[in-house]
Amino acid sequence: EKGGYEHFMLKEIFEQPNSIADSMRGRLDAKNARLTLGGIREQADALAEANRIIIIACGTSWHSGLVAEYLFEEFCRIPVEVEYASEFRYRNPVINEGDVVIAISQSGETADTLAAIELAKSKGAIILGVVNVVGSSISRASHEGAYLHTGPEIGVASTKAFTGQLSVLTMIVLSVAQRKKTITESKFKELLQELESIPDKIKKVLDSNDKIEYISSLFKDAANFLYLGRGYNFPVALEGALKLKEISYIHAEGYPAAEMKHGPIALIDEEMPVVFIATRDSSYDKIVSNIQEVKARKGMVIAIVTEGDVLIPKMADHVIEVPRCDEALMPLISVIPLQLLSYHIAIMRGCNVDQPRNLAKSVTVE
Ligand code: M6R
Repeated sequence: EKGGYEHFMLKEIFEQPNSIADSMRGRLDAKNARLTLGGIREQADALAEANRIIIIACGTSWHSGLVAEYLFEEFCRIPVEVEYASEFRYRNPVINEGDVVIAISQSGETADTLAAIELAKSKGAIILGVVNVVGSSISRASHEGAYLHTGPEIGVASTKAFTGQLSVLTMIVLSVAQRKKTITESKFKELLQELESIPDKIKKVLDSNDKIEYISSLFKDAANFLYLGRGYNFPVALEGALKLKEISYIHAEGYPAAEMKHGPIALIDEEMPVVFIATRDSSYDKIVSNIQEVKARKGMVIAIVTEGDVLIPKMADHVIEVPRCDEALMPLISVIPLQLLSYHIAIMRGCNVDQPRNLAKSVTVE
């Protein structure tokens, strides 16, 4: 059942080239520049005309919601708010006519997310579900939605569901953008082609597994980790930190790199590993300065960089290369080394990666 892998988590990490392809099958036709999302037909106009999109989720699903916020605002020009379901449901939120709620959940059973949906529904919002488990409570409570089609995720740490969510959310964003004409035809086509090439690019990242295992062995005894990214890679920093915390029990924090100066920089000394997600994108120069700031304080830098980068390898202690890719899709790729890093560190610390202490696969009580 683990397909020859020692743990479900590793199997699910390695499945991602296939599970992402599965999430696109029958939906994405790059050759003919066509996107079909059968599950969001009736509400497609409502979504394109939404005054505001409210994304509701917990944990890793909340992180994919943050990436979707950047995507919707960039390509659809619709304002987005990303909410922790547990906070949203208890604070008498403002929900107006014309607001569309997107609920993201792997299991489709998360109690807070479900309750937040019911609240939004009672105030007249349209609910779209981005869910993995077919027929789950959240999929039934939604008006329409798109399943991930990534297959069952058994490991408690969410891996292939995260990239499945990113894939599906990106397709939703691009179809809305095309409808609204807030994206040029050529950019639309280019991004569809890029999306189609993601599975192969992930395969390349997976080839770095041995190197990542080696780097893991150097840092397995660290007491803390900091993860920093900017732009589309900021939610990836949060996700990397969550993965490490939940399966290796090492304290980790994810931050937008520029926020470092507002507090976390005080933590940096020679004992502090800092993981930078520093791929080539519009904030590259800024993140290079952030790396310099950490090195000036003797922090240990592990950097995820775009292949061929010659600058960061001169500054960082360790680099992990990932293939080039449009920055809007980079989280699909840049998260993979972080999943592997947390997996190897947890194994080296003797942790039960598939069933970490105190955690359940779906949180059905609040
Ligand atoms: O099933 P859901 O996507 O609604 O679950 C949300 C979180 O409980 C989940 O992502 C959790 O944070 C994972 N253990 C993260 O790996």
